Amino acid sequence: MKRIDPHRLRSEFPMLFRKNSPTYLDSAASGQTPKAVLRAMDGYYRRYRANVHRGMYPASERATEEYEGARKKLAGFLNADPREVVFTRGTTESLNLLAYCLAPTLKPGDEVVMTVMEHHSTIVPWQQLAKRYGFEIKYIGIDGDGQLDMASAREILKSKKIRIVSLIHVSNALGTVVPIRELVGLAHGVGAQVIVDAAQSVGHRPVDVRDLDCDFLAFSGHKMFGPTGIGVLFGKAGRLEAMSPFLYGGDMISRVTFEESQWNELPWKFEAGTPNVAGAIGLGAAVDFIGELGLEAIHRHETEITARAIRRLSRIRDIVIYGPPDGTDRGNLVSFGLKGIHPHDLTDILGRKGLCLRGGHHCAMPLMLLLGLAGTTRASFSVFNAREDVDALARAVGSAVKIFGI
Ligand code: ALA
Repeated sequence: MKRIDPHRLRSEFPMLFRKNSPTYLDSAASGQTPKAVLRAMDGYYRRYRANVHRGMYPASERATEEYEGARKKLAGFLNADPREVVFTRGTTESLNLLAYCLAPTLKPGDEVVMTVMEHHSTIVPWQQLAKRYGFEIKYIGIDGDGQLDMASAREILKSKKIRIVSLIHVSNALGTVVPIRELVGLAHGVGAQVIVDAAQSVGHRPVDVRDLDCDFLAFSGHKMFGPTGIGVLFGKAGRLEAMSPFLYGGDMISRVTFEESQWNELPWKFEAGTPNVAGAIGLGAAVDFIGELGLEAIHRHETEITARAIRRLSRIRDIVIYGPPDGTDRGNLVSFGLKGIHPHDLTDILGRKGLCLRGGHHCAMPLMLLLGLAGTTRASFSVFNAREDVDALARAVGSAVKIFGI
């Protein structure tokens, strides 16, 4: 297997390759953009900037070719058919699209199941739509180590009333990896459709939608070296065919009269209006970038760096590390706190020392309430992070302990 060389790779990321560049440990919030992705988007804006699916001139034909080419790359990357790859603005839009399209098919007495680790972009749409359509939401809990409580999952997933199961793949707050395949089997056993929030897994570990057998999967481009404002909704073709469109407008129709409209084929039925052409092309380049590095190699590097971070941080007095214990499969992040110190204060001090981390509830406020926490400080890693970054983090947290006088 190839190995990742973070020092060599850093020169590919302009923001990290300047004098006094910060130590970037916030890739779970947003990744960095490599030059290859910037070049691809620049090429579109400079050489063939035109709309797609409409033009009868070379620039527009080229734009269409590159936009649809990016979709094919994404399809190959996920082991999906291009018809099953819908471009959206990101995970949040993909998850909202699904909730708005699927909730009207639910009735009082039906159940939607999710984990207590879901992001607000899963909890809030279903919670709000439950008020309108009268279905019930049930949550699968976690154990003391932050792992999904599989005994409770097996019990909850016996109900024939369940119509939708929406699962986070890798928790952005704890790093927990949810056993999707087993849960998909249980959910399908009672006839439910499964949605996977793969925002923290795609681009960090192999994600094969056929292997997972999920019905839908959502992720964002900007967490996998792509630009902001572009993401993907994967849906099994049969599932997408059965759904009504989310947004109406240009491109998503095949025929319109003053009285009626007919929808375009997949995937365009779900892509109303001029799409984010440059974003999709940039995301296609991000897939190439990941392909050159190798997903297995990326996963191995991030796993090693995360394990080192857990080892180094756990030696610090008064630190608490949340989520699965060392040695278990976990995402490329570590959430921690100092006893008696607000996570914003700790994250702020680390920021002043040139370390970019996220502090707070990580858009998982119900989980934080369940754990009795105001939030956590979270370090998350990518291919450009080296051992030295982890060591700098451990030193900075150690000196914060002294500053706070704990
Ligand atoms: N959901 C993203 C995070 O975890 C923004 O930081």
